[in-house]
Amino acid sequence: MYKFFTKKFSSINQAQIKPFKDELAVITGGTRGIGYSIAQKFAQNGARCVLIGRNKEMIEKARKYLDKNFEVDNNHLGYECDLRIPTEIEKVVINISKLQKVDYLINAAGVSHDSLVVKLKEQEVNDIIKTNLLGTIYMCSHISKLMIKARRGCIINISSVVGLHGNSGQSIYSASKAGVIGFSKSLAKEIARKNIRVNVIAPGFIETDMISMMSENVKESYKNKILMQRFGRPEEVAEAALYFAKAEYITGQVLIVDGGLTLS
Ligand SMILES: NC(=O)c1ccc[n+]([C@@H]2O[C@H](COP(=O)([O-])OP(=O)(O)OC[C@H]3O[C@@H](n4cnc5c(N)ncnc54)[C@H](OP(=O)(O)O)[C@@H]3O)[C@@H](O)[C@H]2O)c1
Repeated sequence: MYKFFTKKFSSINQAQIKPFKDELAVITGGTRGIGYSIAQKFAQNGARCVLIGRNKEMIEKARKYLDKNFEVDNNHLGYECDLRIPTEIEKVVINISKLQKVDYLINAAGVSHDSLVVKLKEQEVNDIIKTNLLGTIYMCSHISKLMIKARRGCIINISSVVGLHGNSGQSIYSASKAGVIGFSKSLAKEIARKNIRVNVIAPGFIETDMISMMSENVKESYKNKILMQRFGRPEEVAEAALYFAKAEYITGQVLIVDGGLTLS
């Protein structure tokens, strides 16, 4: 009797600590910044992670860190893929489809080149739209097919507050992020009946490489506009991703993680 209860109790505890055990999370941009924090959070909760980025060394470094700290059956994985190139996405998805079913897709890869509209360069426009918007669209399109077969899945796309409110000097970046929101809401409507949820996180300023180029003066002036008077940490965005992953009755929503920036 005692043995039964302790065994049962310990298995309940195990499930509570590792709610994503035996599940697979594919994370674009999972090698740095917000995506890497999300990968750590999901791995900590028991998920096996597939990290996608362009830099081989960064992928391997991030993957090894997950393997060392968050053990899973068959190791965490990493794939080199330039999301601007649809054929590269197709190749990676073929590899992913040979693994177990995909439970979570988190599209966190993104780039930003700031420029006024009158000074736009075609190459930068293409880079932003292809990575942030088309990369997200094609990843969702391919992976949602796998999820539809499994009749289960959760997609989380990372947009930005500028996709909701715009920002001077970030017109193309804002367009790409607004596109992600419109796309995600439509996709949520298309696949909710297949038991797949699609949600969006819209971060404000988060301490990653993406904002490291800002001068200290500019950083201070932005911080003064944030109600919480500081930039966010990648882990704080990862908490929002974890929330969406567990929120079985929420789809088609945008969660703003900006410390009150857009209220001020
Ligand atoms: N940081 C912020 O303040 C902030 C605010 C709002 C929204 N966001 C959004 O949050 C997401 C994560 O941003 P972050 O701040 O974590 O950026 P980050 O630190 O610069 O990391 C960007 C990630 O995207 C990957 N990536 C970029 N271009 C790629 C491509 N063509 N193909 C595949 N992977 C690519 C990078 O890997 P490789 O370079 O190795 O390819 C890296 O893993 C982005 O979508 C960004 O727009 C960030």
